[in-house]
Amino acid sequence: MYFKMKARLEKIVPDVELRYKAELAAEIMELKREKNAVILGHNYMEPALYYSIPDFVGDSLDLSRKAAQTDKDIIVFCGVKFMAETAKILNPSNTVLLPSDKAGCSLAASITAEDVRALKRKFPGVPVVTYVNTYADVKAESNICCTSSNAKAVVESLHTDTVIFLPDEYLASNVARETGKQIIFPALTPAPLSLQGRGAGGEDPHPSPISGRGAGGEGVMVGWRGRCEVHEKFTVADIEAVRAQFPDVVILSHPECSPEVVAASDFSGGTNAMIKYVEQTKAPHYLVLTECAMGDNIAAANPDKDMLRLCSVRCPHMNQITLEDTLAALKQNRYVIEVPEEIRVRAARAVQRMIAIG
Ligand code: 13P
Ligand code: SF4
Repeated sequence: MYFKMKARLEKIVPDVELRYKAELAAEIMELKREKNAVILGHNYMEPALYYSIPDFVGDSLDLSRKAAQTDKDIIVFCGVKFMAETAKILNPSNTVLLPSDKAGCSLAASITAEDVRALKRKFPGVPVVTYVNTYADVKAESNICCTSSNAKAVVESLHTDTVIFLPDEYLASNVARETGKQIIFPALTPAPLSLQGRGAGGEDPHPSPISGRGAGGEGVMVGWRGRCEVHEKFTVADIEAVRAQFPDVVILSHPECSPEVVAASDFSGGTNAMIKYVEQTKAPHYLVLTECAMGDNIAAANPDKDMLRLCSVRCPHMNQITLEDTLAALKQNRYVIEVPEEIRVRAARAVQRMIAIG
């Protein structure tokens, strides 16, 4: 294990750390076999974990697909809680473990199921698309989910002028631009107490005249003011400063960055799309505006390419997932992800519709 990790990570991880982590990784691999478990690792995992224990690494969409296909008894999800929940939604009979109970997400925390119900009351008949970066009860209120890699295709698959797109303000703005829609962020009327927590029923006293079909024009996207606490930190000033110093740099950004940052970049795509772009680029220098562990992982896979190491924003939630905690997760069967069946069934419909689109 040490030599396998060293081959990839010699220039990225100090040797003393590699030796220690290789021992942990070897122990995890042994337990994984014994317990008939599969380990899924998101692209934002730290390099020593990313390049050692996962059976599959990938973006949110990839890992949902892998979770849906597995025949193993246990899924250990090295990612954040909404991802592990998606695995459980798709595999109710499997045990799904998340190595930390603190691996949240600022986007998932930005919206509740009641917020979605209030939007549905305000815009009756308008389909709801939710980003997978949401919890199961929010997915359950949605018609379909999306990830950053298929958001445009999902919105277009609905064939409606108006779409509610939640909860990422910036992803929604970027998809609205791509699909030619105008974006609005409505104020909500709180639900009457008698309706709170009671499903989608009830009527808004001030419903919007916008409806799903035939709203005319280019269409409207109804957004929400959630943001990724990592990607909101990148600015156009950062990009200008880098371009001033390296005029031939190619800049990649995640679509959770602001529309201004995306417009100032050369390429924008989900985590897998960025990995592929770097593999294929012949640019003399490149810069990846996303979570910094993924920058390390890309640099390790492309040692002959010049990555500008100017991003240092680590997702505090992804950072909770360590080799130590993954070992403890397998040893102690923790933290078990549960989704109430009534919510799971409705959330599964939205996730499966997305998977069918690809
Ligand atoms: P991807 O779907 O591109 O992997 O992104 C997930 C995420 O959490 C980005 O911040
Ligand atoms: Fe959530 Fe942002 Fe972290 Fe992704 S990087 S898990 S969107 S906080």
